[in-house]
Amino acid sequence: MPAGFEHIELVGDKVRLRPIRASDAVDAYRLLTDDAVLANLAWDGPASEAEIADTYARWETEFRAGEHCALAIELADKPGMVGCINARFPRHPRQADIGYWLGVPHWNQGCMTEAVRLVCYLSFKHLDAARAYATVFTRNMASRKVLEKNGFSVDGTLRHHVFKRGEFVDSWFLTLLRPEWETGWEWFSPRLENIVFARGK
Ligand SMILES: CC(C)(COP(=O)(O)OP(=O)(O)OC[C@H]1O[C@@H](n2cnc3c(N)ncnc32)[C@H](O)[C@@H]1OP(=O)(O)O)[C@@H](O)C(=O)NCCC(=O)NCCS
Repeated sequence: MPAGFEHIELVGDKVRLRPIRASDAVDAYRLLTDDAVLANLAWDGPASEAEIADTYARWETEFRAGEHCALAIELADKPGMVGCINARFPRHPRQADIGYWLGVPHWNQGCMTEAVRLVCYLSFKHLDAARAYATVFTRNMASRKVLEKNGFSVDGTLRHHVFKRGEFVDSWFLTLLRPEWETGWEWFSPRLENIVFARGK
């Protein structure tokens, strides 16, 4: 990971990724109060719009510090946040922990498959990742398919991984290793990319 980011913009055929801002809380809160989105997230969702604005303000700081790529998903031809995708590097600077959600009106149109492809491109091509990984509730086949369509495979099941709404939920642990990305996806490039690392670091 670099010492910091000034900007990231990655555009595909369907979606545009750009840094999350506290002002995205309005759109995010509206989309996140749909239970269909929250049911498959380990997070139980924000209690208020102000809470999510605080979280996104913190993520802006972490983004500038190069600790966390918290990116808003927009439709490629229309400004306005429709979802979120994160790449965190919590345990090791070359291990990208990927998480995401998308507003219900945009499901099943290939948006997250492309968003994950763009974040893998960012992680492997620009951030020197050795491995990307994600955890997915075992009832969430759509999310598993998003990852598998990007070359991830299931390493195994994490039993009773998350306590969600009064019960333990199992998760799949999926990974994509650098050689697998190089073999399968190195051909891929965004329609547009603008990645600016912090100067002087
Ligand atoms: C999971 C999620 C990210 C998928 O995003 P998306 O943009 O709809 O995904 P895509 O359209 O790129 O791909 C979805 C794939 O799953 C398939 N799918 C959808 N629902 C399915 C289901 N119930 N069972 C099996 N496959 C399913 C779709 O047909 C598609 O596959 P295909 O391209 O082979 O037809 C989105 O539904 C979401 O945000 N859900 C709530 C939050 C969440 O689950 N986040 C991930 C936590 S790990």
